[in-house]
Amino acid sequence: MNDAPTDWSLDSWKQRIEQQQIVYEDRDAVDAAVAKLRTLPPLVTSGEIERLRTLIADAQDGRRFVLQGGDCAETLADCTSQSITARLKILLQMSLVLVHAMKKPVVRVGRFAGQYAKPRSSSTETRGDLTLPSYFGDLVNSADFTEESRRPDPHLMVRGYQHAAMTINFIRSLIDGGFADLHHPEYWDLRFMEHAHLSPELRDAYQTMSTRLAEALRFMEALGEQSVDDLSTVEFFTSHEGLNLLYESAQTRQVPRRDGYYNLTTHFPWIGERTRQIDGAHVEYFRGIRNPVGVKVGPTAAPKDIVALIDVLNPENDPGRLVLIHRMGVRQVASQLQPILEGVAASGRRVLWICDPMHGNGITTDQKVKTRNFDDILSELEQAFDIHARVGTCLGGVHFELTGEDVTECLGGAAGVREEDLFTNYASPCDPRLNYQQALELAFLVARKMGD
Ligand code: PEP
Ligand code: CO
Repeated sequence: MNDAPTDWSLDSWKQRIEQQQIVYEDRDAVDAAVAKLRTLPPLVTSGEIERLRTLIADAQDGRRFVLQGGDCAETLADCTSQSITARLKILLQMSLVLVHAMKKPVVRVGRFAGQYAKPRSSSTETRGDLTLPSYFGDLVNSADFTEESRRPDPHLMVRGYQHAAMTINFIRSLIDGGFADLHHPEYWDLRFMEHAHLSPELRDAYQTMSTRLAEALRFMEALGEQSVDDLSTVEFFTSHEGLNLLYESAQTRQVPRRDGYYNLTTHFPWIGERTRQIDGAHVEYFRGIRNPVGVKVGPTAAPKDIVALIDVLNPENDPGRLVLIHRMGVRQVASQLQPILEGVAASGRRVLWICDPMHGNGITTDQKVKTRNFDDILSELEQAFDIHARVGTCLGGVHFELTGEDVTECLGGAAGVREEDLFTNYASPCDPRLNYQQALELAFLVARKMGD
């Protein structure tokens, strides 16, 4: 069934309780912003969304692997050619490492071109005597701790949309221009990247692998193998948390010659851990769209509740529709993941499993800096692979918060970021991200694990 459910409408979510709801003061300005968004052209097409559904269906069956990554929170200020290029490069390089190890295609999905809205554990933040609304991402308000900055501004929905459009426009041009073409190693070769902190071991491992890949590509072409085309031009898809339903629904529409409604702000929106209530506004909105849908699943989820949620979001059990992104934390994954995998497997529901080893592993240092340990991230991932293998389910992807820059936000890795280094270059307005070296290193370690 491809039509939207008969008891669903673009506005039916408004009858439900909305967690993380933004309280705007100026309703007229909200209506004006939503009306503007409704008139603007889409960022992605229904054809691309359908294509991603088929790739996700392949990944469910173990024929592809999904690499999803990017900033915790994109910012409008970071919509620069340098930042976008760096993010694209690290995802491309990580994916090459994974392709090489797994010998299967990797689907690249960025947390970008719209990852501007953030759920918060508290709706307010207090510093000294002053209490203000929390920072909910650049789609909603601004990070500076002033009354003016923290007041939710409806026009930021339009500004966010415009910046998402500029980002995706640049990404499309880069890809069309050969940025991700394996025949142009100058674009993805490390020698052309100035990363002072990259360890010699990692550089060598990557260099050896990329040289081998390029040789293999030439060899296959010499044999006249058609499928090389698949390798030479790569696709990137966009994703973001669909938190602000005013924004998401304003760009949700029907398109000619297709059934159903598409959210055209992104290929792959997901529902966060804090907004996945089965009778809540987010699940109501998401059940009516055609896009593949992600759901974050944390350690408090009960297997029967997850099966019930699957039934609401994918009642026809369509392949390629639903992605469950588990984020248990290194200390909980051993006890919490298996019952959920078993419950879903026993129900016969088809989902793609992805592991997010970031969001269960947040810690705060004595100096009150939010960070994560590289070893915790790696350990959760390795345990997740083992648990899936034990249950007989397929871990078909990984989800990281990362950046192409040399930030110091997560502890550890071969570069040995220490607590005192966190102050050197901590740039995230939200959760700590893996830096360039940590991200590439993790790709090698995951590849090794999967090679085992
Ligand atoms: C996120 O992905 O940035 C996030 C907030 O995740 P979660 O909903 O899993 O906490
Ligand atoms: Co985050």
